Amino acid sequence: MNSFHDKVIYQIYPKSFCDSNGDGIGDINGITSKLDYLKDLGVDYIWSTPFFKSPQNDNGYDVADYLFIEPMFGTMEDVDRLIREADKRGIGLMFDMVFNHTSTSHEWFQKALAGDPKYQAYYIFKDGDPDTPPTNWESKFGGSAWEYVPTLQKWYLHLFDVSQADLNWENPEVREELKNVIRFWKNRGVKGFRFDVVNLISKPAVFEDDHDGDGRRFYTDGRHVHEFLHELVHDTGIQDMITVGEMSSTSLDNCIRYSNPANGELSMAFSFHHLKIDYKNGDKWELMPPDLHHLKDLFQTWQVGMQEGHGWNALFWENHDQPRIVSRLGDDQHYWRESAKMLGTMIHLMRGTPYVFQGEELGMTNAHFTSIDQYKDVESRNYYRILMEERGKSKEETLKILQERSRDNGRTPMQWTGEENAGFTADAVTPWIEVPDYKKEANAKDEMGDPESIRAYYKKLIGLRKEYPIIADGTIAFFDDDNDSVMAYERREGEQSLLVLSNMTADPIRAAVPDGKAFAAGKTLIDSYGEGQTAAVHEDSTITLRPYEAVAVLL
Ligand code: GLC
Ligand code: CA
Repeated sequence: MNSFHDKVIYQIYPKSFCDSNGDGIGDINGITSKLDYLKDLGVDYIWSTPFFKSPQNDNGYDVADYLFIEPMFGTMEDVDRLIREADKRGIGLMFDMVFNHTSTSHEWFQKALAGDPKYQAYYIFKDGDPDTPPTNWESKFGGSAWEYVPTLQKWYLHLFDVSQADLNWENPEVREELKNVIRFWKNRGVKGFRFDVVNLISKPAVFEDDHDGDGRRFYTDGRHVHEFLHELVHDTGIQDMITVGEMSSTSLDNCIRYSNPANGELSMAFSFHHLKIDYKNGDKWELMPPDLHHLKDLFQTWQVGMQEGHGWNALFWENHDQPRIVSRLGDDQHYWRESAKMLGTMIHLMRGTPYVFQGEELGMTNAHFTSIDQYKDVESRNYYRILMEERGKSKEETLKILQERSRDNGRTPMQWTGEENAGFTADAVTPWIEVPDYKKEANAKDEMGDPESIRAYYKKLIGLRKEYPIIADGTIAFFDDDNDSVMAYERREGEQSLLVLSNMTADPIRAAVPDGKAFAAGKTLIDSYGEGQTAAVHEDSTITLRPYEAVAVLL
């Protein structure tokens, strides 16, 4: 198995990246037109979220045909050209495989609905009374996870939207179909794959009610998931390609198994625990300030645990399902640049492979939308209703929650310029989702010309990983455990040591360093306050970090 320790991946949400033909929707040719920008940033792979044929109820995560390009995004020729042009620049494409479910418009599901037993066995249909779903499980987008089909007198399972029917992986024919999808894209020159919610594919033998939760404990990291992944990877011969699984509500032990090279499953795993530290009682729709103590604890557990188990983490703050990190853990008003840079440093110098989500490298912020009409996301729109009708929230409270939690915060158009439509589409066009007024200065054009910009800083971070093997391959250990305001860790390789300290607050903070003398004599690789800025070491082997300052010193 190949390792991807010195690589950096850039995630594109095509609908919001760049519109090449003036219909207000980003497209494949738009991506191709920006390859030089990505080459300049220094990334090795592009993971694009799905652009396959889809009714777009969940923006392409409801796939109706895995081998056909959704016309609104372009054509197969456009995809071939994108792969070719990226390859010329040394950039590989990773495609997003949504294999837990298909759209109910998929031919397989349509045949199932028409009564074909072969295709009914592709999904999870259960007989039952029209008034009582087979179990009390809840969909991740709200409401029951089951939908009744009167003509069949059966229910089908959908862990996500009602238009996303779960596939039956127990059926070997389903697994063969999905392998063929991989083979098809591999033959077309795709260099890697991201597998959507792939730890949910193996369902239990018996379906029963969950009296303690929403049902997830019965299908998360399910009984055959490791076998299924191994088989998929082995039979399609993608062991040496870069692969990442999106693991929903997963465990450390399972992530070790998914990503330990000896198991022949995946190169790395996304887990999300560190992005729930501001969920009150674990509930995404209840606001709470971030719990930094918990964040430190989680990074320590996962970084050290994965290291001990020979697993590999995907490192990330953002994706198309998450709010913008500078608005969430930083301060997008008073310390916009400092906090964005600090957050970038913290993640990029850890053990794992970093992902940059489009616009993160510019310090793009949350949308700060004020009306439900501005939101497009199916989850946000469902919860707008649920929060008011079922949870008794006022409209103001509900809008406040969406401002912080909506997935649309990460889906506003990529800001290429400071103009009206941010250079995402022509100025006369109405983009499919609004460009927020909030932070127009977070744009590629202005930042490319500014050596102090967040973009310039991200480029430097990416470069450091390639220049210093200690970042790619060093071990990790955490220190200064009792100081909740500072994330402090040490990377080590041979005689070398790299200390990374990040002040996660808006106050100046004293932070301990293991050896004051050595630290003072070390070489600063990067500092969020700029070059030559690193603080002096005090007598007691502490340094003072300024608000949201991060620093990395090589000893
Ligand atoms: C993943 C995707 C998300 C999608 C869901 C269902 O979580 O990232 O966007 O809605 O899977 O496919
Ligand atoms: Ca377009």
